[in-house]
Amino acid sequence: MSKATTALIKGDCIKALKKLKQESIDLIFADPPYNLSGDNSLTVHSGKPVKCDKGMWDKIENIHNFNFSWLKECKRVLKPTGTIWISGTLHNHPSIGVTLKELGFWIINDLIWFKPNATPLLSKNRFAPSTELIWVASKNKKYYFNYDLAKSTNNGKQMRNLWIMNAKRHITPHPTEKPEELLERIISIGSRKGDMVLDPFMGSGTSAVISKRLLRDYIGIEISPEYIKLAKARLKKEKVASI
Ligand SMILES: C[S@@+](CC[C@H](N)C(=O)[O-])C[C@H]1O[C@@H](n2cnc3c(N)ncnc32)[C@H](O)[C@@H]1O
Repeated sequence: MSKATTALIKGDCIKALKKLKQESIDLIFADPPYNLSGDNSLTVHSGKPVKCDKGMWDKIENIHNFNFSWLKECKRVLKPTGTIWISGTLHNHPSIGVTLKELGFWIINDLIWFKPNATPLLSKNRFAPSTELIWVASKNKKYYFNYDLAKSTNNGKQMRNLWIMNAKRHITPHPTEKPEELLERIISIGSRKGDMVLDPFMGSGTSAVISKRLLRDYIGIEISPEYIKLAKARLKKEKVASI
């Protein structure tokens, strides 16, 4: 097998998804806007409390309609054997779950990523958030899933839906960059070499870099030209694995 192909598309994912061929994608990883910015919540930056603002892209007027539109297109482009993995927090995750059901997806798992080193909570009015949630879904019950790989990478024990991984220091200035380790696990278990991976909210390009490393073909969509630049720079540095 030769090198994997990588395509980055600048623009709105709903428009871009409409142009992709139906049933052409083996695995979709989506890390959509969290719907978290602008609700007066605080976070910690360099040890100081600051207003939580991820950027304009995180402020969406009707998040449920938005979720319906992009997930409908994802369903159209996903192969019958494919899977979709969607990460988020409680601000958007319930809407995603309802939408998956409305669109007739089959929900395979609700994964929980637990971050033992999560940022401490400043206010003393609730438990300190330390998880992100990942829906895993497919179009029917016959989908690709590498159970044996999951087991072998978990010291020979069946892998559970609670994944314990520390949050990592960011490689790029993107405010919500995902750890490479997380994407490596998702893409290696959910797809094979040569498969086509799609990320409609590519951000800093974490899924792009891991797809290249694992020899998967890849399409990434991102609305911000600044983040497309970050992803391109990361991809340039990424060596292709030897096989
Ligand atoms: C949560 S971040 C993804 C972070 C990414 N997983 C990473 O590791 O860097 C969501 C991204 O979606 C982009 N975005 C927001 N709305 C979009 C849209 N309608 N179409 C395409 N990209 C969009 C934002 O610019 C942001 O970079």
